[in-house]
Amino acid sequence: MDQKQVVIIGAGISGLVACKYCISKGLNPIVFESQADIGGVWGKTIRTTRLQTFRGMYQFADFPWPSTVAHDFPTQHQVLNYLRSYATHFDLFKHIRFGCHVKGIEYHGPSSWSNWNGICGTIPLGKWKITVEDSQPSTKVHEADFVILCVGRFKDVPNTPEFAPGTGPEVFRGKVIHSMEYAAMDHDKAEQLVKGKRVVVVGFQKQGLDIAMECSSVNGTEYPCTVVYRNDRWKLPDFSPWGIPLQYLYLNRFSELMVHKPGEGFLLSLLATILSPLRWGISKLVETHIKTKLPLAKFNMVPERSFAKDLRSCLLAALPEDFFNRVESGSILPKKSPSFTFYNDGIMIDGENKPVQADIVILATGFRGVKKLKSIFTSKDIGELIAASPDSRVPLYRECIHPRITQLAIIGFSESFSNLFTSEIRCRWVVELLDGKVKVPSIKEMEKDIEYWDDYMKRSSGSYHQRSCLTGLDIWYNDQLCKDMGWNPRRKNGFWADLFQPYGPMDYANP
Ligand SMILES: Cc1cc2nc3c(=O)[nH]c(=O)nc-3n(C[C@H](O)[C@H](O)[C@H](O)COP(=O)(O)OP(=O)(O)OC[C@H]3O[C@@H](n4cnc5c(N)ncnc54)[C@H](O)[C@@H]3O)c2cc1C
Ligand SMILES: NC(=O)c1ccc[n+]([C@@H]2O[C@H](COP(=O)([O-])OP(=O)(O)OC[C@H]3O[C@@H](n4cnc5c(N)ncnc54)[C@H](OP(=O)(O)O)[C@@H]3O)[C@@H](O)[C@H]2O)c1
Repeated sequence: MDQKQVVIIGAGISGLVACKYCISKGLNPIVFESQADIGGVWGKTIRTTRLQTFRGMYQFADFPWPSTVAHDFPTQHQVLNYLRSYATHFDLFKHIRFGCHVKGIEYHGPSSWSNWNGICGTIPLGKWKITVEDSQPSTKVHEADFVILCVGRFKDVPNTPEFAPGTGPEVFRGKVIHSMEYAAMDHDKAEQLVKGKRVVVVGFQKQGLDIAMECSSVNGTEYPCTVVYRNDRWKLPDFSPWGIPLQYLYLNRFSELMVHKPGEGFLLSLLATILSPLRWGISKLVETHIKTKLPLAKFNMVPERSFAKDLRSCLLAALPEDFFNRVESGSILPKKSPSFTFYNDGIMIDGENKPVQADIVILATGFRGVKKLKSIFTSKDIGELIAASPDSRVPLYRECIHPRITQLAIIGFSESFSNLFTSEIRCRWVVELLDGKVKVPSIKEMEKDIEYWDDYMKRSSGSYHQRSCLTGLDIWYNDQLCKDMGWNPRRKNGFWADLFQPYGPMDYANP
């Protein structure tokens, strides 16, 4: 490959794997990482965080988990150690510049161009100027022929609810923090913060659940933790409904035959329609399993949306063991309401007469990944291409490149059942693009393809389509990447195995 300077921003999982595959193509990438260590979200999180994806799905294709890690859902320290071993094994550390915060990136080059192919060939292209502040602090501008943005979407820029004047945190005498600040604290300090306090957690996805559990462990029923949430979601007590591993229900080719797919032909569309009762039946099967195991009806917490819809919107969370025992005993008090406001001594929940007194409100309300991504581009015009509004989905071809932002890839932005798995295969695709092996169609055709995916995301995830969730269509998506790279998309031995066995990272170990 013609030697070009690739700059990778971020040394979380996506940045590490991007770096590894760039090196495999003879490139000498520079990775800028604002923190002092690798790992991104795994570098610092709350005490009880573990992997919630079965580890066999969350591993690098050519670097299995060590045999010393026996648990299917390793702890955060085990995940971080695994990432460190990966970085050491593939000699990635020497490429990473820690404490280097990228303040902005700007493209200098021909404003009009029409062809992605040949990035490493002879077409004269422009350069990205990358403004980096290091820990001195001093600011330098670096140049790159190609940038791989791996800045993550669940860190740094919090999503905080908005309130009418006089009803927001400004009127509250207590403390309001985002889960991000709680996660950044030393574990003992976090415990001290909530100990003996009346805590309200807002948000009921994974971070909210885990923080509520930590508060209830510290305070018991003496100071119950109130959880305020808007919508019931399916939570998984385990990953084997009625003894059938979830992968056999949703992560094999057969399960994908039941779903309408972006860009599918007539026969596949017909088959998906014919099989839709089976798709419905499987969703109900999982729902009955969850309802048998968890007292959802008792606490009026049965979700309105189907399990399949939550799965396809990446809205599933693994339920911490003992959660409903805490609800039964009264150390966790879930309160469902479309909205809430602050008053001087706590919060007022819409539809309830009695206010909830509080000392601390922890907003486990997620992140604004799109805003974060947009903000890295100095040019407003490019920012607009990334997302016209805060609710827009980032329109990426193969979830990797924006057809109209040249010499740049974005990895780790769309979600899936295993974000490591998807980041890795995307990085392999990107380096093949750099190498000239992957040829992409015209900008117009890429945009058409993105439109098909947009339609799919809107159908499958509704108002959550901006999460760009691929869960349940992973194989269909991976097939396209494989075909682009000239690999056989059928990775199993034999027709039946290919149809019914779940696909995971190890199936892609070799091209
Ligand atoms: C607590 C938690 C648990 C999770 N558990 C799971 C799970 O079980 N399964 C799963 O599939 N997914 C899980 N996820 C999703 C998780 O985000 C992905 O699995 C994956 O770790 C994301 O890696 P990433 O490299 O894309 O992003 P990140 O881990 O966010 O890494 C981005 C990196 O970029 C750096 N960076 C950002 N901006 C700049 C800048 N301007 N300049 C320099 N550096 C910058 C950051 O410091 C960071 O190190 C979890 C997320 C969280 C928050
Ligand atoms: N491995 C692990 O154990 C682990 C731990 C933590 C996080 N994670 C992952 O990290 C990612 C982020 O998780 P997260 O829990 O921080 O965020 P999240 O999944 O985006 O959930 C945000 C929560 O906040 C609620 N919310 C958002 N805006 C709100 C508002 N204005 N008012 C009230 N509630 C609001 C949402 O409610 P609605 O549902 O009604 O929109 C949802 O319950 C996810 O992918 C998650 O799986 C994993």
